[in-house]
Amino acid sequence: MGNIFTWYKPDAKTKSNTEVTPLKKIPRHVAIIMDGNGRWATERGLPRTAGHQAGLERIRDAVKLCLEVGVKYLTLYAFSTENWSRPQEEVSFLMRLFEDALTREVDELHRQDVRVKFIGFRTGLNPNLVRLMDESEAKTANNQALVLNLAINYGGRAEILNACQQIARAAKDGSLDPERLTTEVFNSYLFTTGQPDPDLLVKPGKEVRISNFLLWQMAYTEFYFSDLYWPDFGEAALREAFEYYSRKERRFGGIKKGDSAECTKE
Ligand code: FPP
Repeated sequence: MGNIFTWYKPDAKTKSNTEVTPLKKIPRHVAIIMDGNGRWATERGLPRTAGHQAGLERIRDAVKLCLEVGVKYLTLYAFSTENWSRPQEEVSFLMRLFEDALTREVDELHRQDVRVKFIGFRTGLNPNLVRLMDESEAKTANNQALVLNLAINYGGRAEILNACQQIARAAKDGSLDPERLTTEVFNSYLFTTGQPDPDLLVKPGKEVRISNFLLWQMAYTEFYFSDLYWPDFGEAALREAFEYYSRKERRFGGIKKGDSAECTKE
């Protein structure tokens, strides 16, 4: 599969690099729903698959910026458990795109000290893709700079149900006491076990929704939505999302530091 979109550089509508200011606060874990590939292509009179190919290029920008600013976990939604309902031609294209991208990009990610992980269900995926996924994980297993989680055949509800099934089995065979089921124990049954929850969700593509992504993990995540399509969402656009996050005061259900809960009498 030719790399026909390397020439495509977005960001015409966003700030240039010369205006970059240091970020006050860096998200530890960033999750991205790479939406709008199909519309990007259709609006240009191209097949939807061209949008996915262009979208792949933006992953490089996102990894580069995360490494530069010190984000430690980047989770990308590449294919959902619901995406199987798309036309067979598009599904096959995406599967080939994943195989092609893993074959071409893993050495470079390894050189950059990136650890590649996959979240989602491997059943139903082509055996060659599963082999490439296993090899990529094994090769990069000791890397430290950034964990890159690629969500393929992933769905938030399916992940929660899968955890519940395992927990129910463990309770039934006596290896787990239901009274000892805490948030931390539940987390250990998820694909993201051992990782912090996302601090920031970024979703380009105009639509304001979370599309069954990391439903359990995003309980206190900050959300950033953009009208740009993912193939247009370059480094400067992602930096704007990081700037938005760095202005946020996170309270996790508490109150602002220094504020008192006492009522003042009139
Ligand atoms: C959503 O846009 C995008 C996808 C379903 C696929 C995203 C996949 C990539 C960018 C390639 C990733 C590659 C690797 C190796 C992880 P959409 O098709 O829903 O766009 P639309 O809403 O405009 O139709």
